Amino acid sequence: MNQRLSGRFITVEGTEGVGKSTNIEYLCSLLDAQGIEVVLTREPGGTPLAEELRELLLAPREETVSEDTELLLMFAARAQHLENVIKPALGRGAWVVSDRFTDATFAYQGGGRGVNVDHIQALETIVQHGLQPDLTLLLDLDVETGLKRASKRSEPDRFEREKLDFFEKVRSTYLQRASAEPERFAVIDAGRSIPDVQSQISEALIHFLDGHHD
Ligand SMILES: Nc1ncnc2c1ncn2[C@@H]1O[C@H](COP(=O)(O)OP(=O)(O)OP(=O)(O)O)[C@@H](O)[C@H]1O
Ligand SMILES: [Mg+2]
Repeated sequence: MNQRLSGRFITVEGTEGVGKSTNIEYLCSLLDAQGIEVVLTREPGGTPLAEELRELLLAPREETVSEDTELLLMFAARAQHLENVIKPALGRGAWVVSDRFTDATFAYQGGGRGVNVDHIQALETIVQHGLQPDLTLLLDLDVETGLKRASKRSEPDRFEREKLDFFEKVRSTYLQRASAEPERFAVIDAGRSIPDVQSQISEALIHFLDGHHD
């Protein structure tokens, strides 16, 4: 819980093509119907500078990107996003919905790339000063189905070019984090139809709202 900030912070996580963008729209419509002001944002990105860092991170390139470079760019973008968008919004009582946040760094850079988790935790402490999402919806789907869904939409970015094994590690890291923090995470079976996924999201939100009466 963000005790100093009055809004709530919801993140949506999952591997490629699980339906994050599709369902975030639905989630925002639910919050809107409750009369809640919602700021919809994404990572990496969410501010002009952080969006430039996103482009640098996602562009396929000849040069090998070192693991530390990737990790530091992710947290540089996050620092900018937190200071300029997330904290001001929460501070004025708005709710923030972010398409990915730090769980993605643990999953992709930690699980996928094998970066030392202590290094990720150290950067998390420096950049977030204890700020954590209040609710994280993890859309879980077998990675092949997700990649097939994503590939119909656009050319693969630098991450989407990774092998299946990379995404299996990303997925299992996400699931491990969800089991370690069951009170923060709601794991959604994203392999079902869109209406079914939406009803799971609606249930998770109702559960969250019930537990958070001020
Ligand atoms: N439950 C579902 N069943 C079948 N298709 C779906 C489902 N949810 C989303 N899709 C479709 O899968 C594709 C990818 O969905 P979406 O863009 O929402 O995923 P994403 O998680 O945001 O992907 P990315 O990681 O690339 O941002 C879209 O074409 C979307 O319409
Ligand atoms: Mg998306």
